[in-house]
Amino acid sequence: MSVVSIAIDGPAGAGKSTLSRKLAQSLGFLYVDTGAIYRTLGLFVEQNGKRCSDPKEVIGLLDQAHIELRHEKDGFQHMYLQGVDVTEAIRSNRVSSYASLVSAIPEVRSFLLEMQRTLAKHHNVVMDGRDIGTVVLPEAKVKIFLTASPECRAMRRQRELSGKGNELPFSQVLQEIVERDEADQNRPVAPLRQAEDAVLLDTSTMNFEESLDALLSLVKERLPV
Ligand code: DC
Repeated sequence: MSVVSIAIDGPAGAGKSTLSRKLAQSLGFLYVDTGAIYRTLGLFVEQNGKRCSDPKEVIGLLDQAHIELRHEKDGFQHMYLQGVDVTEAIRSNRVSSYASLVSAIPEVRSFLLEMQRTLAKHHNVVMDGRDIGTVVLPEAKVKIFLTASPECRAMRRQRELSGKGNELPFSQVLQEIVERDEADQNRPVAPLRQAEDAVLLDTSTMNFEESLDALLSLVKERLPV
């Protein structure tokens, strides 16, 4: 069976997950959120009390990490760690920091690479992350680099947090976004960057519906008919 992959990369808070999930739904493809895989490993490291500042401690844990990604009947991707559903638990700010730190370790990236590639080998996928178009699926049929200005991403993030009852000052949310961009862009291995053959989609001046329409038309123009 010949399968098609769509790679969506971009910085934190660009709306990648929500847009990619909708895109996958409308195409009937499997949606794969690779950030969730790094988050699950981050949670494992946290649970084991290891220090991310020492890559050796993290690498020493890899053999014991049993990470599974399952697409369940609700259509959502669920993450399992040692057989336990951790889909919700990996969304905390604390786990975000652990995920960011472990994702900078080359051995962690190669450990998780096969899992991502295997999914794309057996399914039509919309896969989102930071290095999908550059490292994980360099042969992807369509590559999109989805971004928005840091201020705009911070505004959206602040609204999202506020919807969950978590009120934070704009300056703090913006600072966290800028710090995560720096970390993701400047790590030596698989840094966040636009693949040469990726199309840039900047959604700074678009609302959600407009962003989705723009994404859908970019993808449909490029998909085999
Ligand atoms: O997209 P996210 O915020 O859930 O990602 C969590 C962390 O994992 C983030 O710091 C970047 C990292 N990540 C990565 O390095 N490579 C990917 N393909 C996806 C996420």
